[in-house]
Amino acid sequence: MKTSEKIAIVGLGYVGCVSAACLAKIGHEVIGCDVSDYKVACVNNKEAPFFEPGLGEALDEVVSSGRLRATADLAEAVAASDIVMLCVGTPSAKNGNQSIEQIERVAREIGAAIADRERPLLVVTRSTVFPGTCEEVVAPALGRPDVAVVLSHPEFLREGTAIEDFMEPSLLVVGGAEPHRSRIAALYEGLPVRPQIVELRTAEMIKYACNAFHALKIAFANEIGAMSERQSIPAAEVMATLCEDEALNISKAYLKPGFAFGGSCLPKDLRALVYRGSRLDMDLPLLNSVLPSNESHLQRAVDKILDLGPVKLGFFGLTFKENTDDLRESPTIALLEQLIGKGREVRVFDPNLALEKIYGANQRFLMERIPHIGRLMQTDLAQMTEWADHLVLAQKPGKAYAEALKAGGKPSTNLVGGNPLG
Ligand SMILES: NC(=O)c1ccc[n+]([C@@H]2O[C@H](COP(=O)([O-])OP(=O)(O)OC[C@H]3O[C@@H](n4cnc5c(N)ncnc54)[C@H](O)[C@@H]3O)[C@@H](O)[C@H]2O)c1
Repeated sequence: MKTSEKIAIVGLGYVGCVSAACLAKIGHEVIGCDVSDYKVACVNNKEAPFFEPGLGEALDEVVSSGRLRATADLAEAVAASDIVMLCVGTPSAKNGNQSIEQIERVAREIGAAIADRERPLLVVTRSTVFPGTCEEVVAPALGRPDVAVVLSHPEFLREGTAIEDFMEPSLLVVGGAEPHRSRIAALYEGLPVRPQIVELRTAEMIKYACNAFHALKIAFANEIGAMSERQSIPAAEVMATLCEDEALNISKAYLKPGFAFGGSCLPKDLRALVYRGSRLDMDLPLLNSVLPSNESHLQRAVDKILDLGPVKLGFFGLTFKENTDDLRESPTIALLEQLIGKGREVRVFDPNLALEKIYGANQRFLMERIPHIGRLMQTDLAQMTEWADHLVLAQKPGKAYAEALKAGGKPSTNLVGGNPLG
């Protein structure tokens, strides 16, 4: 049986009001707080302060049963609770930055309210705030590290289906220290979701990643849709068919931070799409920005390796990804060109590449870029590791190669993401 917690919700807007009603509905004792007397009165009168399907009914149920009430007095709400959830607004400032004025003010007011408090308090930021805000703004404003622990617990509900989204969460993220973060996750016991328990700043970042991803998906569908329509191709069918592929398209595929993309298809086809877009007189900023984004990512890798200074570099991997001998548009070749151009000493080992066996476009691509590649290529990984001061993992090694690389004991730069050496 889930523990019933005493929770104060500060800010009774879309997020706060829905959270207050739903947390009470699943058995907690909730007190809502807002500077708006109107919103406070609405809640106490069992009425939704704004239109949200099902909210009025939920408020009616939980206010009638005594599990939710509202007040304009923050100190009263905090005194009655063991957990305070910050659900105030974080609107855009004029310069595009986020305004955290409301968060800062509320945190200071809570700080004043707990000046003499002895009972511990969990202060949970549900508002969307940039990484670092909990540690650098909320915690100092509260000013009682001995009593108040700050956590991040971003909200993912969507207006219009907010009650359903609360009861069947798409994602539940809690960031902060144990055992506090598990206590917050336990508030939702019984709901059909597996809580994601992470570090404080990670939780703050995840919310931005999710919203950026949603926006990116909409903009992508709209640009592909607009380009389809311009060619009298049914846009909805194109995107619906794209969504049928749940292995590569609607899946985890391609969503791991790693190295720049390359190969014989993605750069070429994107280039053609962008060119055709311009021929159709279409403004497609998202599609136009994908190749430049990839270039910037490659440049970050160049800078990172140049920052190591004039060390001898042993590269693992030359082809555009593992398990192929295709070199066309390999980002590693572009990376090597720049490093060699800056005078860096480089040797390369690739488990799937035998120079004498490549031919045609593959061979031309390599010889145009790095004609003296033959002198750089190594066939013995142990020898290369021995020679190098520093390794660069430009490809995910198989198990045996990972063991061999580890055994060499050399420092390494990982371009592929994850934990390639295990
Ligand atoms: N609206 C959404 O769909 C949604 C979804 C997920 C996350 N979020 C994030 O959640 C946060 C809240 O969003 P919202 O849409 O609920 O905002 P909102 O503007 O609807 O509500 C904020 C509430 O906070 C109250 N408030 C401001 N200062 C206060 C104070 N000092 N004391 C008490 N109450 C105070 C305001 O009166 C208002 O009622 C934002 O950071 C937003 O980005 C919103």
